Amino acid sequence: MAFNIGSGLEGKSVVITGGSGGIGREVCLAFAAAGSRVVVVDLDQDRVTAVAAEMEGGPHLAIAHDLRPVAGHPALIAKVTAAFGRLDVLVSTAAVLIRRPSISTSPKRTGISSTRSTSRRRSFSAKRRHER
Ligand SMILES: NC(=O)c1ccc[n+]([C@@H]2O[C@H](COP(=O)([O-])OP(=O)(O)OC[C@H]3O[C@@H](n4cnc5c(N)ncnc54)[C@H](O)[C@@H]3O)[C@@H](O)[C@H]2O)c1
Repeated sequence: MAFNIGSGLEGKSVVITGGSGGIGREVCLAFAAAGSRVVVVDLDQDRVTAVAAEMEGGPHLAIAHDLRPVAGHPALIAKVTAAFGRLDVLVSTAAVLIRRPSISTSPKRTGISSTRSTSRRRSFSAKRRHER
């Protein structure tokens, strides 16, 4: 017997915020593949339209919407219910993701201009010990 992870999601109305981002886009494609009707929400109309065009099945909806003003949320939900009659699932992946290494080893941050300089490496190690 085949196991279908999307079983039960057919025809569901699903809103995915941050839908044109890295995770959001994949979630959109997965729900669409499972037979859901997907509403892609993100900041840029061209990007949400592009994700909607990639999705299987449908009908789907692509809405450019800035989620920061909370007062605008009812209008967004109203668009969804006007198009699909109801909202079954909300996936919130909208975010501002700041990617940076957990430990910086760049010369600029450490003050080391050459890794060949033993004395400077020693002072770096001492500085690190002092900071701990
Ligand atoms: N990528 C990872 O490795 C990772 C790991 C753990 C958790 N997360 C979390 O998952 C979430 C999504 O990550 P991602 O990698 O897809 O990020 P991403 O930056 O690729 O996508 C986020 C999307 O949110 C949209 N967005 C930002 N502000 C918005 C607003 N005001 N209104 C509407 N849309 C808005 C952006 O335009 C973007 O498309 C984040 O909360 C992140 O912290 C990510």
